[in-house]
Amino acid sequence: MNFRALILAAGKGTRMKSDLPKVLHPLLGRPLVSHILKTVYRLNPERVHLVVGHKAQLVQEKLAQSYSDLDFILQEEQLGTGHAVLQAKAALRDYPGTLLLLPGDAPLITAETLQKLIAYHRSGTYSATILTTIIDNPTGYGRVIRDPAGDVVAIVEEKDATSEERKIKEINSAIYCFDAQKLYTALDKIGSDNEQGEYYLTDVVAILREAGEKIGALTVEDPVEVMGINTRMELAQAGKVLWRRKALELMAEGVTILDPDTAYIHPEAKVGPDTVIMPCVMISEDCEIGSGCQIGPFAYIRPGTRLAPGVKVGDFVEIKNSSVGSGSKVPHHSYIGDAEIGSGVNIGAGTITCNYDGTTKHKTVIKDNSFIGSNTNLVAPLTIGENAYVGAGSTITKDVPEGALGIARGRQYNKEGWVKEKKSRQ
Ligand code: UD1
Ligand code: MG
Repeated sequence: MNFRALILAAGKGTRMKSDLPKVLHPLLGRPLVSHILKTVYRLNPERVHLVVGHKAQLVQEKLAQSYSDLDFILQEEQLGTGHAVLQAKAALRDYPGTLLLLPGDAPLITAETLQKLIAYHRSGTYSATILTTIIDNPTGYGRVIRDPAGDVVAIVEEKDATSEERKIKEINSAIYCFDAQKLYTALDKIGSDNEQGEYYLTDVVAILREAGEKIGALTVEDPVEVMGINTRMELAQAGKVLWRRKALELMAEGVTILDPDTAYIHPEAKVGPDTVIMPCVMISEDCEIGSGCQIGPFAYIRPGTRLAPGVKVGDFVEIKNSSVGSGSKVPHHSYIGDAEIGSGVNIGAGTITCNYDGTTKHKTVIKDNSFIGSNTNLVAPLTIGENAYVGAGSTITKDVPEGALGIARGRQYNKEGWVKEKKSRQ
């Protein structure tokens, strides 16, 4: 399925009320635009072009690391979506294939839907195919105008629509397939004589139609898929949708999730079957949870965490960049960072790996079957040997050898009869 993709991401995102360009706002820890990029790349396009403009250099810097072959195209002034597409003219005008065109702020579209759109576009020899949806409140969107036969004849923007047209509930998702050469021929004819004084990409639909071309439309059933993110409220809603999708996917694969509404599991995280996720658990990207684990309630599993099968991570535990061996337990109130924990280990409540000295991160190694008493500080770098014990309340700064007890706390001594003496002094 050869095609190229063009993603528009030059806008400022005024409604975010932010210094940061909208497309860089984090959604589940990744720039907003990287979600649609990732989805598009899953379909193996020949090439992906991204139109940048507002704070272009910053956007480019942030994305170039992860997408080395992305072609950045600069739109110096944001004069409208049609103008944005025209900036890619040199790159695409002579391309003989299908161009998939998308906005950078629609992170919920699925690869399956895009695949269907491309297949539909090709099956009908359309010069343009619009992905549409039907929503109860279409305010703000471009409306899809059809003729009595049901064929698409135009897209009219909200601000330019008549009151009759505004009643139409079928809207333009801003995701399209085009015959690239025909698109650029039509784009040369658009103007900016409209309410917003912008060059609208959507005007090409009527231009193509008038030139006798066939316009296709594919309607997605779930409007959520084409939701555009314009405000911080919508950004939060998109996060919820992605978490819910992940929870449904994991449950279908055999993971128990007590409350999917509070399971904040990143789409890229891996969780094995028969693991139980209790309420209020956050699991980041780049985490692998084995099978038969129990996580939470109130656990924070950060990037680089690997939990072997049968691990228990309990309440108010944070784990980062660490591995935990099979059957080990971190049941309550702990911070585990940059650690390598063996199997059969018990980490007492309130254990902290002191991994950071203010400049550098250091590693803590806790070998198999060792026991860390409650309220212990492990000042890294440090190794606790196999079958070793650490006394509760210790601040451990040196290695504890295999089979030894390490203890580092003030000795207790009792003053017999002290209370009585105190009272008699008063
Ligand atoms: C657009 C569509 C509208 C559709 C809606 C769906 C047009 C004219 N209208 O409207 O029919 O219902 O999306 O959400 O296309 N951009 C640039 N350069 C520009 C202007 C925009 O790169 O000069 C980018 C933006 O960064 C954004 C995308 O294009 O990613 C869409 O632009 P936006 O201004 O949000 O268009 P809408 O008014 O939402
Ligand atoms: Mg928009």
